Amino acid sequence: MLPHSTLQTDFDRHAFGPDFTWGTATAAYQIEGAVDRDGRTPSVWDIFSKQKGKIKTGETAEIACEFYDRYESDLLLHKELGFNAFRFSLSWPRILPDGIGPQAGGRINEAGIAFYDRLIDHCLSLGITPWITLYHWDLPHALEQKGGWPNRKIVDWFAEFTNICTLAFGHKVKHWIILNEPLAFSVLGYFTGQHAPGRRSFRNLLPAIHHTALVQAEGGRIVRQNVPDAHVGTTFSCSPIDPFTPRDQAAATRVDALMNRLFIEPALGLGYPTRELPFLSGIAKKVAQPGDMERLAFDFDFIGLQHYFRAVVEQSYFMPYLWAKDVSPLRRNVQTITEMGWEVNPETMYRIIRQFGQYEGVKQIYITESGAAFYDTVQQGMVHDPARVSYHQDYLKSTLRAKQEGFPVAGYFVWTFLDNFEWAEGYRPRFGLVYVDFRTQKRIIKSSGRWFQQFLND
Ligand code: FCB
Repeated sequence: MLPHSTLQTDFDRHAFGPDFTWGTATAAYQIEGAVDRDGRTPSVWDIFSKQKGKIKTGETAEIACEFYDRYESDLLLHKELGFNAFRFSLSWPRILPDGIGPQAGGRINEAGIAFYDRLIDHCLSLGITPWITLYHWDLPHALEQKGGWPNRKIVDWFAEFTNICTLAFGHKVKHWIILNEPLAFSVLGYFTGQHAPGRRSFRNLLPAIHHTALVQAEGGRIVRQNVPDAHVGTTFSCSPIDPFTPRDQAAATRVDALMNRLFIEPALGLGYPTRELPFLSGIAKKVAQPGDMERLAFDFDFIGLQHYFRAVVEQSYFMPYLWAKDVSPLRRNVQTITEMGWEVNPETMYRIIRQFGQYEGVKQIYITESGAAFYDTVQQGMVHDPARVSYHQDYLKSTLRAKQEGFPVAGYFVWTFLDNFEWAEGYRPRFGLVYVDFRTQKRIIKSSGRWFQQFLND
């Protein structure tokens, strides 16, 4: 049981309305494990994580949470917590081991399709609504060998993948998310090299960005076409960007264009933010083909905001193209930070909803991810995580404020259900509502999970 004081909030679930979606969010590569089972081939993350020095802890996601084998009992636990929606992603190399589909000469892995079919059926039988993300970063390695995201053919590869998935599951699943955080995998994957596939060159950056933006819209069109009554959206990582001093305003405007506007504006028919980021004009000059700029637009039913922290930036002559750099919370003397070093500042949730909600053309907003990593320890078989309880209470309150002011916020997905493989950080940062002992695979509901349980069952 939780001490009564941590349970109290000055709002309850009903304040969000009867139709509000309450979910958790996950990603295939972070939880499934079973990377070489039943016909799955490696993704870029399998290759990347085996390279020395790429993952801070030297770990891989070969086993992860064993969700591939444990999804039945895990979803029972999810049900117990009271969430009515579960967001998960489809592993592309589990479904198409060659990356390409039959139209391009590749195979469909029926065992992969069957796994997701069982998972979806299990969600439905428990009364949990499945939300599918088509792409959460695990590109088949076979496609990376053909050039990956900088290769224009990715638009066709992704179209066929989307076609296959929607035809397989579209009669059971209505909620579809095309991409998870396009900025992260294009820029970190092909320019800074911090994420898979770990390539670093400016030459790749503009093609990777443009093909990602094309895929975002193209994917939306295919889902709309194949899935009756589809509810189709896509997600964006987003953070309010503040200048460190008044002199840094121009730097903040540039970082905002990169972090918050780069992928939503083309989807809304506004094009790339080239005025603030002149280097992006290279896309129209060198990368795009005739008709592309129109093809970037798609009328999404909803957008997913993934918000964790705000950024404070200052002018910098050492950072080419952006001429700005981050001013860390430590340098700003901010005490409330997570294990990731991210500032906890609930008001920024309200601010970011307001920023995105002001675009004409944004019809509905879901918080498709928000959460925090803190040092969790098991004591007498329990995990007491008051900081995470407060994080969610405060970020929810800020979400509610935006909703009450009329912004169309329709759901909140906690990142995340189970502690899992946190990409380049390894297993160390724990974001889950459920603790996972990675040696034994034992699950322990943390007090944050218990808090949600009471909140959602109220
Ligand atoms: C987001 C990712 C998600 C997870 C959280 C902490 O950027 O979409 O997979 O890593 O951050």
